[in-house]
Amino acid sequence: MLYIGIDLGTSAVKLLLMDSQGKIRNIVSREYPIYFPNPGWSEQKPEDWYEQTMIGIDELLKDADRSQVAGISFGGQMHGLVILDKDDNVIRPALLWNDGRTYEECDYLNNVIGKEKLSRYTANISFTGFTAPKILWVKNKEPENFARIAKIMLPKDYIAYKLTGVHCTDVSDASGMLIFDVKNRRWSKEMCEICGIREDQLATCFESYESVGCVLPEIADKLGIPHTVKVAAGAGDNAAAAVGTGTVGDGMCNISLGTSGTIFISSRNFGVDKYNALHSFAHADGSYHLMGCMLSAASCNKWWMDDIIGTRDYGAEQKAIEKLGENHVYFLPYLMGERSPHNNPNARGTFIGMTMDTTRADMTQAVLEGVAFALRDSFEVAKSLGIKIERTKICGGGAKSPLWKKMIANILNLKVDVIEVEEGPSLGGAMLAAVACGEFESVEEAAARIVKVVDTVEPDPELVAKYDGRYAQFKEIYPACKPLFEIIK
Ligand code: XUL
Repeated sequence: MLYIGIDLGTSAVKLLLMDSQGKIRNIVSREYPIYFPNPGWSEQKPEDWYEQTMIGIDELLKDADRSQVAGISFGGQMHGLVILDKDDNVIRPALLWNDGRTYEECDYLNNVIGKEKLSRYTANISFTGFTAPKILWVKNKEPENFARIAKIMLPKDYIAYKLTGVHCTDVSDASGMLIFDVKNRRWSKEMCEICGIREDQLATCFESYESVGCVLPEIADKLGIPHTVKVAAGAGDNAAAAVGTGTVGDGMCNISLGTSGTIFISSRNFGVDKYNALHSFAHADGSYHLMGCMLSAASCNKWWMDDIIGTRDYGAEQKAIEKLGENHVYFLPYLMGERSPHNNPNARGTFIGMTMDTTRADMTQAVLEGVAFALRDSFEVAKSLGIKIERTKICGGGAKSPLWKKMIANILNLKVDVIEVEEGPSLGGAMLAAVACGEFESVEEAAARIVKVVDTVEPDPELVAKYDGRYAQFKEIYPACKPLFEIIK
């Protein structure tokens, strides 16, 4: 049998075809635009996602026996607000996870409603990218659009709806809405009231590995696949990536270096970070996880390479970097503001420490190290909660760089397990589809059978010590700049 995993990302939709043995048969990627209508705002058109996903599925199956397709599922960019009217038309472009416009609504949720109540109802506090403050923003700033809302959906759920006609979501993605009672895996009545919405405007919530229904006959005919193809609810991209890297069960860790950067820690038991710096979400394997999310990770390097120094040869730039642990230049990677742990949409990207002998390589190094230091900020919060992690998996575009993996291993002092297929969310999506179709008994079984570690990057104690010193300096920079970020916004 064949399973399709759809990773609905920020820059592109990535589609992966997996067989019953977990072997990857094909991978396809289709891009779509992202719009920044104002500084700190970010939007995409759900219609673009759907159009490219359909073209992508057709391309993915070009040389495959389409009659063998049994299931489809997803990893999707989280938190985005998709609103549909009574005829299921998209009302306005989606507000994305890295959109910082909801500053006032967050302030209202965190300080008027109060963090204690939010945490009690949802296990989380408000961050600008989360869905609840976006709903309030539409309510406050676009009341005519708010009045037309019949359904509130998350990005990947819009695709599932177009494929099946079912308004569905899953527990991991619902967790990032701040309307979901994470502990009890159900919608929060209190949060619906606070946001001025009814529960029937929300989608039906499934476990990630559950089937929500079959593809609609006209879609199946268009794609040439059987009418019996099941669509599983899927997961937010980080939970799907965790499935795809085998980060399931208790105490496992995955780092994703994509447009965003995340550190994801799986747990059999529900738990809340008492500082609310890390998100406490439901996991796609039926359990829970804690996660720190930085808004710009591999995207910082992409910005630096493509837009600033103007090269496509990332490898050549990284070859010139030799002095690990000795760089005097630092970079704060807050190009879209920052989520974990600072929760500050006004934070900005910053270079500091340059002298006349600073080279282009030093600055490239500072960008890569800045992302790793910022991930360590979230990792330090996890350690302060008593969580002990010695090794991590890694995935995302940035994980293709051996140098960046070495920096992560030494800056976080973690063994970095490199897996055979670093396809994270799309592979996780295909695995969830396979579980929904009964190919595997559980997500954990699928992970044990499919995910293979092929190498480990070990931290080097001398370099770890050098980087500890550098991190101590890095940590001082954000608090010193914070008042300036309020002035220059
Ligand atoms: C997680 C988050 C990002 C997006 C990226 O909370 O906002 O990782 O899911 O697609």
